[in-house]
Amino acid sequence: MNFPIERFQSIKTPFYYYDLDLLKNTIAEVKKQVGDSRYHIHYALKANANPDIIKPIREAGWGVDCVSGNEVMTAVENGFEPSSIVFAGVGKTDDEINYALSVGIGCFNVESLPELEVISQHAVAKNVTAKVSLRVNPNVDAHTHHYITTGLNENKFGIDLRHLDAVVDAAFSLPNISLEGLHFHIGSQITDMEPYRQLCEKVNELQAHFAAKGITFATINVGGGLGIDYDNPDLNPIADFKSYFEVFRNNLKLAENQQLHFELGRSIVAQCGALISRVLYVKKGVEKQFAILDAGMNDLLRPALYGAHHKIENISSPDASEEVYDVVGPVCESSDVFGRDECLPHMQRGTLVALRSAGAYGETMASRYNLRTLPDAVYSE
Ligand code: LLP
Repeated sequence: MNFPIERFQSIKTPFYYYDLDLLKNTIAEVKKQVGDSRYHIHYALKANANPDIIKPIREAGWGVDCVSGNEVMTAVENGFEPSSIVFAGVGKTDDEINYALSVGIGCFNVESLPELEVISQHAVAKNVTAKVSLRVNPNVDAHTHHYITTGLNENKFGIDLRHLDAVVDAAFSLPNISLEGLHFHIGSQITDMEPYRQLCEKVNELQAHFAAKGITFATINVGGGLGIDYDNPDLNPIADFKSYFEVFRNNLKLAENQQLHFELGRSIVAQCGALISRVLYVKKGVEKQFAILDAGMNDLLRPALYGAHHKIENISSPDASEEVYDVVGPVCESSDVFGRDECLPHMQRGTLVALRSAGAYGETMASRYNLRTLPDAVYSE
Protein backbone atom coordinates (compact mmCIF):
# COMPACT_ATOMS: atom_id res chain seq x y z
CA MET A 1 0.00 0.00 0.00
CA ASN A 2 1.36 3.43 -0.92
CA PHE A 3 0.82 6.18 1.59
CA PRO A 4 0.62 9.84 0.46
CA ILE A 5 3.01 11.04 3.18
CA GLU A 6 3.03 14.67 1.97
CA ARG A 7 -0.73 14.81 2.21
CA PHE A 8 -0.67 13.20 5.65
CA GLN A 9 1.61 15.95 7.06
CA SER A 10 -1.28 18.39 7.34
CA ILE A 11 -3.87 15.92 8.65
CA LYS A 12 -4.55 15.58 12.34
CA THR A 13 -3.72 12.08 13.58
CA PRO A 14 -4.96 9.50 14.37
CA PHE A 15 -7.12 8.75 11.34
CA TYR A 16 -8.09 5.79 9.21
CA TYR A 17 -6.73 5.87 5.69
CA TYR A 18 -8.49 3.84 2.99
CA ASP A 19 -7.05 2.83 -0.36
CA LEU A 20 -10.16 2.76 -2.54
CA ASP A 21 -8.29 1.23 -5.48
CA LEU A 22 -7.39 -1.79 -3.37
CA LEU A 23 -11.01 -2.07 -2.30
CA LYS A 24 -12.15 -2.00 -5.93
CA ASN A 25 -9.53 -4.59 -6.90
CA THR A 26 -10.69 -6.80 -4.04
CA ILE A 27 -14.31 -6.55 -5.15
CA ALA A 28 -13.25 -7.35 -8.73
CA GLU A 29 -11.37 -10.43 -7.54
CA VAL A 30 -14.41 -11.68 -5.62
CA LYS A 31 -16.55 -11.22 -8.73
CA LYS A 32 -13.98 -13.12 -10.77
CA GLN A 33 -13.74 -16.03 -8.34
CA VAL A 34 -17.42 -16.46 -7.38
CA GLY A 35 -17.92 -18.44 -10.56
CA ASP A 36 -21.58 -19.43 -10.12
CA SER A 37 -24.66 -17.33 -10.85
CA ARG A 38 -26.45 -18.91 -7.88
CA TYR A 39 -23.84 -17.49 -5.46
CA HIS A 40 -24.63 -14.07 -3.94
CA ILE A 41 -22.66 -11.84 -1.58
CA HIS A 42 -24.18 -9.93 1.32
CA TYR A 43 -21.41 -7.70 2.66
CA ALA A 44 -21.22 -7.78 6.48
CA LEU A 45 -21.68 -4.11 7.33
CA LYS A 46 -20.33 -4.54 10.85
CA ALA A 47 -16.82 -4.74 9.39
CA ASN A 48 -16.94 -1.19 8.05
CA ALA A 49 -19.96 1.03 7.49
CA ASN A 50 -18.34 4.13 5.99
CA PRO A 51 -20.42 5.52 3.11
CA ASP A 52 -17.37 5.74 0.84
CA ILE A 53 -16.49 2.13 1.56
CA ILE A 54 -19.97 0.75 1.03
CA LYS A 55 -20.56 2.70 -2.19
CA PRO A 56 -18.41 0.48 -4.43
CA ILE A 57 -19.85 -2.54 -2.62
CA ARG A 58 -23.38 -1.45 -3.47
CA GLU A 59 -22.29 -0.68 -7.03
CA ALA A 60 -21.02 -4.26 -7.28
CA GLY A 61 -24.64 -5.29 -6.96
CA TRP A 62 -24.14 -7.04 -3.65
CA GLY A 63 -26.56 -7.12 -0.74
CA VAL A 64 -25.75 -6.39 2.86
CA ASP A 65 -25.74 -8.35 6.11
CA CYS A 66 -26.84 -6.29 9.13
CA VAL A 67 -26.87 -6.98 12.85
CA SER A 68 -28.79 -4.01 14.24
CA GLY A 69 -31.65 -1.72 13.29
CA ASN A 70 -29.18 1.11 12.81
CA GLU A 71 -27.18 -1.01 10.37
CA VAL A 72 -30.38 -1.75 8.44
CA MET A 73 -31.11 1.99 8.41
CA THR A 74 -27.58 2.82 7.26
CA ALA A 75 -27.88 0.27 4.45
CA VAL A 76 -31.20 1.74 3.31
CA GLU A 77 -29.87 5.32 3.51
CA ASN A 78 -26.88 4.29 1.44
CA GLY A 79 -29.05 3.01 -1.36
CA PHE A 80 -29.19 -0.73 -0.80
CA GLU A 81 -32.46 -2.27 -1.96
CA PRO A 82 -34.30 -3.39 1.19
CA SER A 83 -34.85 -6.76 -0.49
CA SER A 84 -31.05 -7.20 -0.58
CA ILE A 85 -30.72 -6.78 3.21
CA VAL A 86 -30.46 -9.70 5.62
CA PHE A 87 -30.70 -9.07 9.35
CA ALA A 88 -29.03 -11.36 11.91
CA GLY A 89 -28.41 -11.12 15.65
CA VAL A 90 -29.47 -13.03 18.76
CA GLY A 91 -31.16 -10.06 20.41
CA LYS A 92 -33.25 -8.12 17.91
CA THR A 93 -35.47 -5.64 19.75
CA ASP A 94 -39.14 -5.07 18.92
CA ASP A 95 -38.30 -1.63 17.48
CA GLU A 96 -35.62 -3.14 15.24
CA ILE A 97 -37.95 -5.91 14.04
CA ASN A 98 -40.73 -3.42 13.32
CA TYR A 99 -38.39 -1.10 11.45
CA ALA A 100 -37.00 -3.96 9.35
CA LEU A 101 -40.54 -5.16 8.56
CA SER A 102 -41.66 -1.67 7.62
CA VAL A 103 -38.87 -1.22 5.05
CA GLY A 104 -39.39 -4.77 3.76
CA ILE A 105 -35.96 -6.37 4.23
CA GLY A 106 -35.08 -9.50 2.29
CA CYS A 107 -34.65 -11.86 5.21
CA PHE A 108 -34.42 -12.13 8.98
CA ASN A 109 -31.76 -14.59 10.09
CA VAL A 110 -33.64 -15.91 13.10
CA GLU A 111 -31.66 -17.25 16.04
CA SER A 112 -34.32 -18.73 18.35
CA LEU A 113 -37.93 -19.88 18.59
CA PRO A 114 -39.03 -16.99 20.85
CA GLU A 115 -37.59 -14.53 18.32
CA LEU A 116 -39.48 -16.26 15.51
CA GLU A 117 -42.72 -15.93 17.48
CA VAL A 118 -42.17 -12.22 18.08
CA ILE A 119 -41.40 -11.59 14.40
CA SER A 120 -44.60 -13.43 13.50
CA GLN A 121 -46.66 -11.30 15.93
CA HIS A 122 -45.27 -8.05 14.53
CA ALA A 123 -45.75 -9.23 10.95
CA VAL A 124 -49.40 -10.10 11.70
CA ALA A 125 -49.93 -6.67 13.29
CA LYS A 126 -48.48 -4.99 10.19
CA ASN A 127 -50.23 -7.34 7.79
CA VAL A 128 -46.97 -8.21 6.04
CA THR A 129 -45.10 -11.45 5.53
CA ALA A 130 -41.68 -11.78 7.13
CA LYS A 131 -39.16 -13.78 5.16
CA VAL A 132 -36.91 -15.73 7.50
CA SER A 133 -33.93 -18.04 7.49
CA LEU A 134 -33.13 -20.11 10.54
CA ARG A 135 -29.63 -19.68 11.85
CA VAL A 136 -28.33 -23.12 12.63
CA ASN A 137 -25.45 -23.78 14.95
CA PRO A 138 -23.62 -26.47 12.94
CA ASN A 139 -21.15 -27.40 15.69
CA VAL A 140 -18.12 -26.96 13.42
CA ASP A 141 -14.91 -25.78 15.06
CA ALA A 142 -13.43 -22.91 13.06
CA HIS A 143 -10.18 -23.07 15.10
CA THR A 144 -10.08 -19.33 15.46
CA HIS A 145 -9.91 -16.99 18.49
CA HIS A 146 -12.44 -18.05 21.13
CA TYR A 147 -14.04 -14.60 21.02
CA ILE A 148 -14.80 -14.89 17.30
CA THR A 149 -15.75 -18.54 16.93
CA THR A 150 -19.50 -18.86 16.66
CA GLY A 151 -20.41 -22.29 15.33
CA LEU A 152 -19.81 -24.49 18.37
CA ASN A 153 -22.56 -25.99 20.55
CA GLU A 154 -21.76 -24.08 23.71
CA ASN A 155 -22.02 -20.70 22.05
CA LYS A 156 -24.96 -18.26 22.16
CA PHE A 157 -25.48 -18.09 18.38
CA GLY A 158 -28.00 -19.98 16.31
CA ILE A 159 -30.39 -22.84 16.89
CA ASP A 160 -29.00 -26.11 18.19
CA LEU A 161 -29.25 -28.96 15.67
CA ARG A 162 -31.30 -30.95 18.18
CA HIS A 163 -34.01 -28.24 18.18
CA LEU A 164 -34.01 -27.51 14.48
CA ASP A 165 -36.86 -29.78 13.38
CA ALA A 166 -39.19 -28.24 15.96
CA VAL A 167 -38.29 -24.69 14.91
CA VAL A 168 -38.74 -25.53 11.22
CA ASP A 169 -42.21 -26.91 12.01
CA ALA A 170 -43.00 -23.74 13.96
CA ALA A 171 -41.85 -21.58 11.05
CA PHE A 172 -44.27 -23.41 8.75
CA SER A 173 -47.17 -23.07 11.16
CA LEU A 174 -46.71 -19.53 12.51
CA PRO A 175 -48.74 -16.87 10.69
CA ASN A 176 -47.12 -14.35 8.30
CA ILE A 177 -43.79 -16.18 8.24
CA SER A 178 -42.24 -17.39 5.03
CA LEU A 179 -39.38 -19.80 5.66
CA GLU A 180 -36.75 -19.12 2.99
CA GLY A 181 -33.71 -21.00 4.16
CA LEU A 182 -31.04 -22.04 6.58
CA HIS A 183 -28.23 -19.77 7.75
CA PHE A 184 -24.81 -20.72 9.12
CA HIS A 185 -21.74 -18.81 10.29
CA ILE A 186 -18.88 -20.68 11.91
CA GLY A 187 -16.55 -17.86 12.90
CA SER A 188 -14.17 -15.23 11.65
CA GLN A 189 -10.54 -14.88 10.47
CA ILE A 190 -10.58 -18.44 9.10
CA THR A 191 -7.61 -19.13 6.82
CA ASP A 192 -7.72 -22.93 6.79
CA MET A 193 -10.36 -24.18 4.34
CA GLU A 194 -11.02 -27.43 6.24
CA PRO A 195 -13.70 -25.98 8.58
CA TYR A 196 -15.56 -24.73 5.50
CA ARG A 197 -15.40 -28.20 3.95
CA GLN A 198 -16.85 -29.59 7.19
CA LEU A 199 -19.55 -26.95 7.07
CA CYS A 200 -20.45 -28.06 3.52
CA GLU A 201 -20.83 -31.63 4.77
CA LYS A 202 -23.12 -30.51 7.59
CA VAL A 203 -25.20 -28.50 5.16
CA ASN A 204 -25.46 -31.48 2.77
CA GLU A 205 -26.56 -33.75 5.64
CA LEU A 206 -29.20 -31.28 6.76
CA GLN A 207 -30.46 -30.74 3.22
CA ALA A 208 -30.80 -34.52 2.78
CA HIS A 209 -32.62 -34.75 6.12
CA PHE A 210 -35.15 -32.11 5.09
CA ALA A 211 -35.47 -33.36 1.52
CA ALA A 212 -36.59 -36.71 2.96
CA LYS A 213 -39.41 -34.78 4.65
CA GLY A 214 -40.26 -33.03 1.40
CA ILE A 215 -38.69 -29.72 2.42
CA THR A 216 -36.35 -27.81 0.12
CA PHE A 217 -35.20 -24.32 1.03
CA ALA A 218 -34.93 -21.44 -1.44
CA THR A 219 -31.63 -20.27 0.04
CA ILE A 220 -28.67 -21.55 1.98
CA ASN A 221 -26.54 -18.90 3.68
CA VAL A 222 -23.06 -19.94 4.76
CA GLY A 223 -22.12 -16.70 6.54
CA GLY A 224 -18.70 -15.12 6.31
CA GLY A 225 -15.39 -15.56 8.06
CA LEU A 226 -12.72 -15.77 5.38
CA GLY A 227 -9.46 -14.58 6.93
CA ILE A 228 -6.73 -12.28 5.66
CA ASP A 229 -2.94 -12.12 6.02
CA TYR A 230 -2.27 -9.71 8.89
CA ASP A 231 1.47 -10.42 8.79
CA ASN A 232 2.06 -9.70 5.11
CA PRO A 233 -0.50 -7.16 3.93
CA ASP A 234 1.59 -6.11 0.92
CA LEU A 235 2.43 -9.66 -0.15
CA ASN A 236 -1.19 -10.78 0.15
CA PRO A 237 -3.36 -7.69 -0.20
CA ILE A 238 -6.30 -9.77 -1.44
CA ALA A 239 -7.66 -12.79 0.43
CA ASP A 240 -7.67 -16.24 -1.10
CA PHE A 241 -11.14 -16.04 -2.62
CA LYS A 242 -10.23 -18.69 -5.19
CA SER A 243 -9.75 -21.44 -2.58
CA TYR A 244 -12.70 -20.19 -0.59
CA PHE A 245 -15.30 -20.38 -3.36
CA GLU A 246 -13.76 -23.59 -4.67
CA VAL A 247 -14.51 -25.33 -1.37
CA PHE A 248 -18.19 -24.57 -1.78
CA ARG A 249 -18.24 -25.37 -5.50
CA ASN A 250 -16.57 -28.74 -4.83
CA ASN A 251 -18.37 -29.77 -1.66
CA LEU A 252 -21.75 -28.12 -1.28
CA LYS A 253 -24.69 -29.70 -3.08
CA LEU A 254 -27.32 -27.15 -3.99
CA ALA A 255 -30.84 -28.26 -4.83
CA GLU A 256 -32.38 -27.15 -8.09
CA ASN A 257 -32.94 -23.38 -8.20
CA GLN A 258 -31.46 -23.03 -4.73
CA GLN A 259 -29.37 -19.90 -4.11
CA LEU A 260 -26.23 -19.74 -1.95
CA HIS A 261 -25.56 -16.62 0.12
CA PHE A 262 -22.22 -15.50 1.57
CA GLU A 263 -21.72 -12.82 4.21
CA LEU A 264 -18.13 -11.68 3.81
CA GLY A 265 -16.92 -8.74 5.86
CA ARG A 266 -13.26 -8.73 6.85
CA SER A 267 -11.93 -10.22 3.62
CA ILE A 268 -13.53 -7.41 1.59
CA VAL A 269 -12.36 -4.38 3.57
CA ALA A 270 -9.54 -5.23 6.01
CA GLN A 271 -6.51 -4.73 3.79
CA CYS A 272 -7.64 -1.45 2.23
CA GLY A 273 -7.50 0.35 5.59
CA ALA A 274 -4.71 1.48 7.90
CA LEU A 275 -4.77 3.45 11.11
CA ILE A 276 -2.33 6.34 10.75
CA SER A 277 -0.83 7.75 13.91
CA ARG A 278 2.07 9.94 15.07
CA VAL A 279 4.68 9.11 17.67
CA LEU A 280 4.12 11.48 20.57
CA TYR A 281 7.12 10.49 22.64
CA VAL A 282 9.89 7.96 22.68
CA LYS A 283 10.39 7.06 26.31
CA LYS A 284 13.46 5.15 27.44
CA GLY A 285 12.66 2.64 30.16
CA VAL A 286 15.25 0.60 32.03
CA GLU A 287 15.16 -2.38 29.68
CA LYS A 288 12.89 -1.18 26.92
CA GLN A 289 12.04 1.86 24.94
CA PHE A 290 8.46 2.78 24.32
CA ALA A 291 7.11 4.48 21.23
CA ILE A 292 4.00 6.20 22.55
CA LEU A 293 1.48 6.83 19.78
CA ASP A 294 -1.39 9.28 19.59
CA ALA A 295 -3.64 6.34 18.60
CA GLY A 296 -4.91 4.04 21.30
CA MET A 297 -7.07 1.03 21.96
CA ASN A 298 -10.16 3.21 21.62
CA ASP A 299 -9.19 3.81 17.96
CA LEU A 300 -8.22 0.19 17.21
CA LEU A 301 -9.48 -2.26 19.80
CA ARG A 302 -8.47 -5.57 18.20
CA PRO A 303 -5.00 -5.89 19.82
CA ALA A 304 -6.33 -5.16 23.33
CA LEU A 305 -9.47 -7.29 22.94
CA TYR A 306 -8.18 -10.31 21.03
CA GLY A 307 -4.42 -10.06 21.35
CA ALA A 308 -4.47 -9.40 17.60
CA HIS A 309 -1.40 -8.02 15.86
CA HIS A 310 -1.59 -5.41 13.15
CA LYS A 311 1.63 -4.90 11.24
CA ILE A 312 3.28 -1.70 12.42
CA GLU A 313 5.22 0.45 9.96
CA ASN A 314 7.28 3.60 10.28
CA ILE A 315 6.10 5.36 7.12
CA SER A 316 8.03 8.62 7.67
CA SER A 317 11.53 7.13 7.65
CA PRO A 318 11.28 3.51 6.48
CA ASP A 319 15.00 3.33 5.67
CA ALA A 320 16.38 4.47 9.04
CA SER A 321 18.36 1.95 11.07
CA GLU A 322 16.28 -0.40 13.16
CA GLU A 323 15.71 -0.31 16.90
CA VAL A 324 13.47 -2.27 19.24
CA TYR A 325 10.32 -0.66 20.63
CA ASP A 326 7.20 -1.48 22.54
CA VAL A 327 4.57 0.42 20.57
CA VAL A 328 1.83 1.63 22.90
CA GLY A 329 -1.16 3.95 22.99
CA PRO A 330 -2.02 6.74 25.42
CA VAL A 331 -5.10 5.15 27.02
CA CYS A 332 -4.97 4.45 30.74
CA GLU A 333 -5.00 0.66 30.44
CA SER A 334 -2.05 -1.73 30.47
CA SER A 335 -3.58 -3.60 27.52
CA ASP A 336 -3.26 -0.51 25.31
CA VAL A 337 -0.31 -2.03 23.45
CA PHE A 338 -0.03 -2.47 19.67
CA GLY A 339 3.23 -4.40 19.65
CA ARG A 340 6.00 -5.60 21.96
CA ASP A 341 9.67 -5.82 20.98
CA GLU A 342 8.97 -4.50 17.50
CA CYS A 343 12.01 -3.97 15.25
CA LEU A 344 11.29 -0.69 13.54
CA PRO A 345 13.28 2.00 11.75
CA HIS A 346 14.36 4.69 14.25
CA MET A 347 11.39 6.70 15.46
CA GLN A 348 11.09 10.07 17.11
CA ARG A 349 8.45 12.57 18.08
CA GLY A 350 6.32 13.21 14.98
CA THR A 351 7.17 9.98 13.10
CA LEU A 352 4.13 8.74 11.18
CA VAL A 353 3.17 5.16 11.90
CA ALA A 354 0.74 2.91 10.00
CA LEU A 355 -1.12 0.09 11.71
CA ARG A 356 -1.99 -2.07 8.75
CA SER A 357 -4.98 -4.26 7.82
CA ALA A 358 -7.30 -2.14 9.93
CA GLY A 359 -10.09 -1.61 7.41
CA ALA A 360 -12.28 -4.24 9.05
CA TYR A 361 -13.45 -3.99 12.66
CA GLY A 362 -11.22 -0.95 13.16
CA GLU A 363 -13.32 2.16 12.83
CA THR A 364 -16.58 0.33 13.58
CA MET A 365 -15.22 -0.82 16.95
CA ALA A 366 -13.71 2.53 17.90
CA SER A 367 -15.03 4.12 21.06
CA ARG A 368 -14.76 7.34 23.01
CA TYR A 369 -13.16 5.69 26.03
CA ASN A 370 -11.21 8.23 28.09
CA LEU A 371 -13.45 10.73 26.26
CA ARG A 372 -11.08 10.59 23.35
CA THR A 373 -12.19 11.87 19.96
CA LEU A 374 -13.32 9.29 17.40
CA PRO A 375 -10.82 8.88 14.55
CA ASP A 376 -11.63 10.44 11.17
CA ALA A 377 -11.57 8.68 7.81
CA VAL A 378 -9.38 9.82 4.91
CA TYR A 379 -9.57 8.28 1.44
CA SER A 380 -7.11 7.82 -1.39
CA GLU A 381 -7.62 10.32 -4.21
N1 LLP B 1 -22.12 -13.21 9.25
C1 LLP B 1 -22.33 -13.28 10.57
C2 LLP B 1 -23.55 -13.91 11.08
C3 LLP B 1 -21.36 -12.78 11.46
O1 LLP B 1 -21.56 -12.87 12.77
C4 LLP B 1 -20.18 -12.20 10.95
C5 LLP B 1 -19.16 -11.66 11.84
C6 LLP B 1 -20.02 -12.14 9.55
C7 LLP B 1 -21.00 -12.66 8.74
C8 LLP B 1 -18.81 -11.53 8.90
O2 LLP B 1 -17.66 -12.24 9.23
P1 LLP B 1 -16.27 -11.88 8.53
O3 LLP B 1 -16.37 -12.25 7.09
O4 LLP B 1 -16.01 -10.41 8.70
O5 LLP B 1 -15.30 -12.69 9.27
N2 LLP B 1 -14.63 -8.07 15.73
C9 LLP B 1 -13.99 -9.32 15.38
C10 LLP B 1 -14.77 -10.07 14.33
C11 LLP B 1 -16.18 -10.38 14.76
C12 LLP B 1 -16.98 -11.05 13.70
C13 LLP B 1 -18.41 -11.08 14.08
N3 LLP B 1 -19.24 -11.70 13.11
C14 LLP B 1 -12.57 -9.01 14.90
O6 LLP B 1 -12.20 -7.85 14.88
O7 LLP B 1 -11.81 -9.93 14.58
